[in-house]
Amino acid sequence: MTELQRIDYEPAPLLPPAPASGEALDFIVLPRPRHDAGVPLLTALTRRRSTRTYADTPMTLDTIGELLWAANGINRPETGGHTAPSAHGFHEIDIYAALPHGVYRYDPALHHLVLKHVADARNMTGYQDFVAKAPLDLVYVLRGSQVLDTPKQQRELFAAVAAGAICQNVSLYCASEGLATVVRGWINQRRLADALRLNEDEVPLLAQTVGRPAAP
Ligand SMILES: Cc1cc2nc3c(=O)[nH]c(=O)nc-3n(C[C@H](O)[C@H](O)[C@H](O)COP(=O)(O)O)c2cc1C
Repeated sequence: MTELQRIDYEPAPLLPPAPASGEALDFIVLPRPRHDAGVPLLTALTRRRSTRTYADTPMTLDTIGELLWAANGINRPETGGHTAPSAHGFHEIDIYAALPHGVYRYDPALHHLVLKHVADARNMTGYQDFVAKAPLDLVYVLRGSQVLDTPKQQRELFAAVAAGAICQNVSLYCASEGLATVVRGWINQRRLADALRLNEDEVPLLAQTVGRPAAP
């Protein structure tokens, strides 16, 4: 394996979700994003990379609001269009945010975070040790009931592409704002589904850690 292909990690022991810290509100109204901020697209692309060492600095609500809006927020209120594409416009990917004070689902239409349950499930979002320390782990969840009209053989492919588009939006926002991020497919789907309290038809596809980069 070449140096470029090697992923640095320390496997973390499989522990139950940690107790939540801080106040877990039922709804968090997210601040509206700035629409004129950020570096030029090509600069963001130049900076895009995967990072696996994080400072434990908490994320501000302003940053979480912009990050989630960039990920898959509503950018055309007149039609309900999103920042990320999805086949047939089914928008079958839900974004879950594992924060120190609780597990939340992002509601793009309201631009709110909705409390799913009170636990610190960051350590359940992957096997790598940094996932429990970084301030935010996103999980991209396929809502199966949303794609019943998609032919079976296309469901997984289309959902993976939709999740990939959301990941890349997050990565470019992070690159623009000097945040660190890494997309992660190394997850335990069953344990993560339990930790997020998902329904039978909901499947975690990918995770993505976000935070401030650790000081060099
Ligand atoms: C679908 C997918 C799954 C990935 N899974 C992991 C993962 O579980 N853990 C990890 O540390 N990096 C993961 N990565 C990140 C890749 O390792 C990384 O993109 C690759 O090494 C290239 O490095 P770069 O992103 O800095 O260009 C994943 C990337 C993708 C697209």
